[in-house]
Amino acid sequence: MNAAVATPQKNRIQAVLKHASGDKRFKILEVHMKKHQFRQDALIEVLHKAQELFGYLEDDLLLFVSVKLKLPPSRVYGVATFYHFFQLKPQGKHACVVCLGTACYVKGADKILNGIQDKYKIKAGETTADNQLSLLTARCIGACGIAPAVVYDGTVTPRATPETALEHINQWMTK
Ligand code: FES
Repeated sequence: MNAAVATPQKNRIQAVLKHASGDKRFKILEVHMKKHQFRQDALIEVLHKAQELFGYLEDDLLLFVSVKLKLPPSRVYGVATFYHFFQLKPQGKHACVVCLGTACYVKGADKILNGIQDKYKIKAGETTADNQLSLLTARCIGACGIAPAVVYDGTVTPRATPETALEHINQWMTK
C-alpha cells in the first residue's frame, strides 16, 4: 500500500478489507479480477461482475475494486457514476437481493422473486412508491451450498422460501 496514503483513508481501506474478508462475494470478485490479471482497463468488466454479485455497487465495493486494481477511488467512482447501467445504491430504505444463479434458481429463487414482485407490485430493479423496499437480483453470490440465498440489507440468508422472504420484508414495511 502506498505510504503516502493519508491515515483516515488507510483506516477506511482496512475496514473495507475486513468487511471483504467475511463476505464470499468479495472473494469471487477477486478471482474474477485475477482472471483479468488485475488490469486497470478491465474496470468496467469488473464493475459489471461486482453488480452481478451484489445487486448494486455499494461504497465498500467500489473502494475494494480501487484497492485491488490500484486505481484512485475517484476513477472507480467516476466510471461507476458515468454509466447508467451501474446502480450505486438501492433507492429504497431497505434492499432485498434475490440470487438468481443456477443453484438458487433450481431451488426456487424464481418463485421467491415472483412472490415479492406480486405482493409489492414492483419488478426487479425497482423501488416501492413509499421508498421502503428496493428489489434487486444477483447472479451467484457464492452461497450455493445454502441455496436459495436472499440478501436482506447486506445480510446473506440461507434456504429462503417465498414465505420467509415475504415475512422478512413485511417486517420492514410495517416499521
Ligand atoms: S447460485 Fe445463488 S449462491 Fe450460487
